[in-house]
Amino acid sequence: MGYFITFEGIEGCGKTTQIRLLGEHLSLLGHRVVLTREPGGCQISDKIRTILLDADNLGMNPLAELFLYAAARAQHVSEIIRPALESGCIVLCDRFTDATIAYQSSGRGIDRATIDLLNALACQSIEPNLTVLIDCEINVGLNRAKQRIDSATGPREERFELEALEFHQRVRNGYLDLARQNPERYFRTDGSGTIEQISATIAERVLKGLKDSSRAIR
Ligand code: TMP
Repeated sequence: MGYFITFEGIEGCGKTTQIRLLGEHLSLLGHRVVLTREPGGCQISDKIRTILLDADNLGMNPLAELFLYAAARAQHVSEIIRPALESGCIVLCDRFTDATIAYQSSGRGIDRATIDLLNALACQSIEPNLTVLIDCEINVGLNRAKQRIDSATGPREERFELEALEFHQRVRNGYLDLARQNPERYFRTDGSGTIEQISATIAERVLKGLKDSSRAIR
C-alpha cells in the first residue's frame, strides 16, 4: 500500500502551491507521486465540481451540497485514489474528508454523525496517513483567493469565497479543532511564512512520516 497525504486549509491558504512543490521534491527523490484534488480529480467528479463551485448556485441546499461532495468523493476514491495507493504510489490530495467536516459541519452546521456516515460510505476505509493543515488568517487567505479568481480564465469558481466572514472563521476553527483532536495524523503549519519556509517544514514532516511508515511495515 502507498502513502496518502491530504492538504487542508481555508481559501487562499497556499495548499495548491505547496502540493506542487512537495510533489516535485518527492519525484526527484524517486517516489511515484499522484497529485489530485477534491472536489474533482477525475472526469465525473470534475463535472460535479463545476456544479458545486458555480457562483450561480448560491441557492444550493446544504444537504444537496453534502451529497454532491460525497458523490464526487466516492467516484474519486474508487477511480483514482485507491488504485494509486494499491500500486504503491504516494497520493497528494488537495482537500479530502476533513474539508467536509470543516465546511459542511463547522461551516454549515450539518450534524457530525451525518457527515461521518457519508464520508465513511464514500471512502470505503481509505484514510489519510498524514494531513497537512496550512493555517492562515481568513482576511489573508480570502484576499489571495480573490486575486486568483480575478486572474483565472473560465467560470468563476467562487461560490464559497462569496460566503460571509463568519462562515470562513467557523471553517478555520473547525480545522484547528480537527488538528487538536488528531495530533498523530495532523501536521499544522503557519501559512504566513514564505513559500520556501513552509515547503521546507512540510517536506521534513513528510519524509519523517514516510520513514516511520516503512519501519512499521517491515
Ligand atoms: P478549492 O478551492 O480548494 O479547490 O476547494 C473547493 C471548495 O470546495 C472550497 O471552497 C472548499 C469546498 N469544499 C467543501 O465545502 N467540502 C468538501 O468536502 C470539499 C472537498 C471542498
